[in-house]
Amino acid sequence: MKKLVIFYSLDGNTKFISENIAEEIGADILELKSVKEIKRNNVMKLFLGGKQAMMKSEPEIKPFDIDLQEYDTIFIGTPVWAWTFAPALRTFFSKTKIENKRIGLFCCHGGGPGKIFEKMEEKLEGNEILEKIMFKDPLKHDKENDAKKAREWAGKLIEN
Ligand SMILES: Cc1cc2nc3c(=O)[nH]c(=O)nc-3n(C[C@H](O)[C@H](O)[C@H](O)COP(=O)(O)O)c2cc1C
Repeated sequence: MKKLVIFYSLDGNTKFISENIAEEIGADILELKSVKEIKRNNVMKLFLGGKQAMMKSEPEIKPFDIDLQEYDTIFIGTPVWAWTFAPALRTFFSKTKIENKRIGLFCCHGGGPGKIFEKMEEKLEGNEILEKIMFKDPLKHDKENDAKKAREWAGKLIEN
């Protein structure tokens, strides 16, 4: 069976980690994109995105062509927005039935991740949740070390 990495990323941190994981374990990759994306350089970014996340908004996401049936192990990654997962992922969880998968969770945050993994797990009942890992703004801090950590984590996770 195949492996898949699903992620959303606005500023590139989660994308960076996702690409490292996918390359390490030979997984397919699905990047979720909002139809109306908040501009990276918008000074209101934190406010707009934070509000969406707090209101549990489900913004329209761009269509994707992935058949989840083909995969047994899925890695799901998101930035932390207002102590929870990104709204685009909320839309994905609503639109898609994910069950009977082995799932690894990862996130990127700026220092206050809250209970993000508990919130993701609530959306993923009926699956086996494996290990979880978080990274603090890898592109701003120790990028190479975080890439290594992500690769080792994913590698171990698929061995078991
Ligand atoms: C709208 C918004 C809300 C955020 N809320 C939080 C938060 O609650 N806690 C936190 O630690 N970081 C928060 N951050 C910071 C991001 O989680 C962090 O910079 C992450 O590495 C960004 O990932 P990305 O580059 O994949 O988008 C927020 C960032 C944005 C844009």
